[in-house]
Amino acid sequence: MSTRTPLMAGNWKMNLDWKQGLALVEELGDQLKGVSTDTVEVAVLPPFVDLRTVQMVVEADKLPITYGSQDVSAHESGAYTGEVSGSMLKALGATYTTVGHSERRQHHAETEEVTNAKVKASFAAGLVPILCVGEPLEERQAGKHVEYTLAQLTGGIEGLDAEQAKQIVIAYEPVWAIGTGEVATPDDAQEVCSAIRDALRGLYGNEVADAARVLYGGSVKSSNVVELMGKEDVDGALVGGASLKAEEFAKIAGFQ
Ligand code: G3P
Repeated sequence: MSTRTPLMAGNWKMNLDWKQGLALVEELGDQLKGVSTDTVEVAVLPPFVDLRTVQMVVEADKLPITYGSQDVSAHESGAYTGEVSGSMLKALGATYTTVGHSERRQHHAETEEVTNAKVKASFAAGLVPILCVGEPLEERQAGKHVEYTLAQLTGGIEGLDAEQAKQIVIAYEPVWAIGTGEVATPDDAQEVCSAIRDALRGLYGNEVADAARVLYGGSVKSSNVVELMGKEDVDGALVGGASLKAEEFAKIAGFQ
């Protein structure tokens, strides 16, 4: 039986200013009172400018919520205007960084090399990267979705040691399912999540493959999360739109 703790992470993307972020995290704290958070980890991934607010509310109210960023610099510090380093995020009490989201790859031309550097920078700062991988529609239609996704995986984790590979979170987010309302079927999600775990097994062995968490992301809602979570290799969800509503996100977190 798997000992992996499910992770439900809400990616707020470029939504909510600090006041709205404050209201959402407070309401989420209230909503989670009805959810057993002993067996599930709930995380939020706000814009950089909302992180301090989230930190203050989580610490003051001792909320069962971890948090992280949507991106991180590949550099440690210095003359990189506009960038935010892993150590800055760590100082805000962050646990996670999101790396290689398809929106970063698509709109900010993030290459495999940059993604890999950001994964390494996250670990160097003591943070856990949530590495996003997943195919665009053409690759799925061509039947190349597994191959495409595994190439992103191996590029993203290149050079990691076994301890890092054990901690990393991989989020399988097929691009065609993001923000479209078109969710992958549980079998589709399982196919790729299990291929990701097998790839980790091949590279690092059983201990790493059995420990690493593999999430599914793409139009997850309270109405489809139970079926997705019923799949053996789906260890949680990376949720976009539905994480902006406290009640809905708490329902997703309380899927069990
Ligand atoms: O990172 C989460 C994501 O890209 C999925 O977004 O809105 O389809 O849940 P959404």
